This record gives sequence, C-alpha cells and structure tokens, in this order.
Amino acid sequence: MPKTFTHFVCQQCGKASPKQLGRCPACGAWDSMLEEFIPSAAPASTKKNNFVGASLSRPKKIQDIEGDVDERLGLPIAEFARVLGGGIVPGSIVLIGGDPGIGKSTLVLQMALQLGKTFPVLYVSGEESERQIKMRAARLLTGSGTLPDKLFLVTETNLDIIQGHMAEVQPALVIIDSIQTTYLPEMDSTAGSLSQVRECASRLREFAKSSGVAVFLIGHVTKEGVIAGPRVLEHIVDTVLYLEGDTFQTYRLLRSVKNRFGTTAEVGVFTMGERGLTEVPNPSEAFLAERLVNSPGSAIAVTMEGTRPLLVEIQGLTSRTNFGNARRTSNGVDLNRLLMVVAVLSRRLNISMGEQDVFVNVVGGLKISEPAVDMAIAAAVASSFRDVSLRADTALIGEIGLSGELRMVSQAGPRIKEAVNLGFKRIVIPKRLNHKANWPAGIEVLEVRTVREALATAFTSEKKG
Ligand code: TYD
Ligand code: MG
Repeated sequence: MPKTFTHFVCQQCGKASPKQLGRCPACGAWDSMLEEFIPSAAPASTKKNNFVGASLSRPKKIQDIEGDVDERLGLPIAEFARVLGGGIVPGSIVLIGGDPGIGKSTLVLQMALQLGKTFPVLYVSGEESERQIKMRAARLLTGSGTLPDKLFLVTETNLDIIQGHMAEVQPALVIIDSIQTTYLPEMDSTAGSLSQVRECASRLREFAKSSGVAVFLIGHVTKEGVIAGPRVLEHIVDTVLYLEGDTFQTYRLLRSVKNRFGTTAEVGVFTMGERGLTEVPNPSEAFLAERLVNSPGSAIAVTMEGTRPLLVEIQGLTSRTNFGNARRTSNGVDLNRLLMVVAVLSRRLNISMGEQDVFVNVVGGLKISEPAVDMAIAAAVASSFRDVSLRADTALIGEIGLSGELRMVSQAGPRIKEAVNLGFKRIVIPKRLNHKANWPAGIEVLEVRTVREALATAFTSEKKG
C-alpha cells in the first residue's frame, strides 16, 4: 500500500505545518490547525479544463470580446439587486456568508423563486431535503404566487455529480447551499476542510467563468465571525456579501464587503417574518417606529450604512452603581467609544459618572462603527443622567474629540436630507470655521463647536443657543 502523508493546515489562513500547533504562526488563530492529507496528485483546479464547453484560452482584442455593462439578470428583490450592484452578472460567483439561522437559505430561495419564473435555476442543497425546501418555498409563497416552473431542486454534496446536474439542467443560475457541505471525492480531506472548500470553490469558479452561469455559494460563519477558510474564498469569488443581524431581532442587513461589479458600500435592509425576508425600503422610518417621544435617554443620530443615510435611535441609561466598580455596557456601538464619550462628559462637562453604571443601546439591533454617532451617544447618556428629555424634533451628528470639541463627519449633506425626509425640524452638526456650507432646506441646521453647546441646543428645558 502506498504510504500516505498528512500535514496540519490552518483552517483560517491556509498555513501548513508538519506538526500540530496550538496557535497558527501565520495568522495567530488558536486551535485552527486540522490534519489533512497531502494531495498526491495536483488538485483538480490545476488540471486541464475538464468541464462542458471549455476551450483553450486565446487572447482577443478588447472590441471583439462579448459583454456589455448592462448584461445583468434582473432581480425583482430591489434591496438585494442594489447590494449586488444592480442585478446578477452572468458568469459571476457570489459568496453569501452569515451566522447559522440568520436567513441565508431563505434569502437565496426567495431569489430562486423569483428568477425561476424566467430562467432555469438549479438549487443544490447539502443540508435540507428537496421536500423540506419545497415546503419552505410553498410557505414563502402563501397567497402571493405559484411555484415557478423553471426552478430545479436537488439534495447533493458530491461536486462531480452536481456538475453532471448542471450539464443536464443548463441553468442560468446555480445556488450551492453550502460550500462547506460540498466535496470532491478525489480529495482525501473531509467536506468543510480548508482544502475541500478551496478546491470546490475554484472548480465552481472555473465553471462560472467558462459557461457564463452565475453561481451563488452559501458560506457558514465560524464562531469567530468569519467564513470558514475566509481568505482563500474571498480571493476566489467576485462578490462577498454578509447577511447580518441579531437572531432575536427582526432586522437583517445584507452588506457587501467585496464586489467586482459594484461598490462595496451598499447595504440592503430586510425584516424576517412569517413569510421570509421582506424588504424595508425606508429603514429610517422603521428604526424610529417604536420611539417614545420626549422620554429621557433617547437621542436620534444619523449614521451612514454605505451610501445610504439611516436615522437611528440611541438609548442611554445611567443608574447608581450598587457594587464596587461602575459598569459600562454597550449594545450596537463600540465599548471604547462609549468609554471615551463618558470620559469627555465627566472631564469637560462635569457630568460626573464615577458612581453610575452606564448602558447604551442602538435600537433595532443595528451595529454602528462610525464615530459620527458620538454626539448622540453623549446626548442620550447626559439626558438619562439629568432625567431631562431631548427635543423630539432634533437629530444630532458629530464625532467627539478628547477636548470636548465636535468634529465634522463625512457626507453631512445626505444625512441632513434624510432627517428632513423624516420630518425632523432641527439638526445639530459640528461647525467648521471659514466654511460656508449650503445645507439642504426645510430644516434648521444648528452648527456648534463643542459638546456643551450641542447639549444646550438639544435639551428641551434650555433655551436654544
Ligand atoms: P435559514 O434561511 O434556514 O437560515 P440559514 O440558512 O442562514 O442557516 O433561516 C432559518 C431561520 O429563519 C429559522 O430560525 C426560522 C426563520 N424563518 C422565519 O422566521 N420565517 C420564514 O419564513 C423562514 C423561511 C424562516
Ligand atoms: Mg441554511
């Protein structure tokens, strides 16, 4: 019998080592080295092309190459289409990642149900039976349509057989749910291991590029929040989308982190309900729907999700510390930003919170990483501490500096416009010296230099400055 050799491969970055190591020397991930067989022959993707329709490559003049900018498959789910850059590009390969149970299969099934009316679509599942998928499809369509006649379902994990199915169905779109359950039998490692994921994805990419069929891959996210084998997969695919959200909340955000056919700044907003994912065309309105007007500890910020401004409610609560150290808890904003904002309030505005627990929450389960919401965090916390509400018609934007000054944020114009659209009457923004800006009409734009001035302007009981 031939001797087989194994090595240990980091499932995060692909670093190989002859010995098992507790920590990957290349990327620093713990417990990520898994034993894999060293492939005896060259992996499938480096062998000569062996799929239907393949031909030798030949350089062509750019004018002679087929394909125009607007050759996309139209997708009736507008939020999804926008994140993709305006529809599905034939021959592209798209990866959709997200936590288990977040709604990835639901999203692609809804897409397949729509597109299956016009084009042949092949949905390959390695996780659910055809029956289960059909039952889900029927539930998603309750009362709003019939099953499409060009959607094909198959439960299969062997990629060789899947390629046979593709040749038979001749689809315009193939969905692989998920890349981690798909395997190539000629490789020795188990499904889901880095080498399998990489080889299957490269094989599917070659198929997509040579046949012009669009391929969607579903990728599971590990508990560290990355798609298993992320770096290798991100290089292989054209577009990487993440479906995010809190499983306990109904909002889901579809975010693009890489896109060869559009900007990466786009975000689609959905709610998960009885009948799958529903688009939210006006998310600001939805995020503010449950707001208690005139209650202390609530402030409205305008954040940018990609190119789109979103109004969100930031809630703050301060409460006397019972045991020892005061706690600071943040939900939806970076804890370090909260600590900084609390420190500025204590040192620059004499709002002493040494013996107060401070909680901050972004309503709707949104996660905000940009500093433009600093001012709203400060206002929410100060409002709860003083037990005085902020004016309900006022939104706040601005990054806070350590001296208690307010700094300008990007895209102030679109943010202000969104506040106008939602009926806000006043907006507090940082003042820039020697800068005469042309702000959108219909709203009182209050330019201030410091956090102190901003608070004075935003509180109900104080006269506006
Ligand atoms: P699913 O798409 O299977 O998640 P993923 O493929 O990302 O693992 O979604 C599973 C969750 O979505 C499940 O907890 C139930 C919920 N769900 C709804 O709330 N409404 C629906 O119509 C569907 C189909 C699922
Ligand atoms: Mg699934």
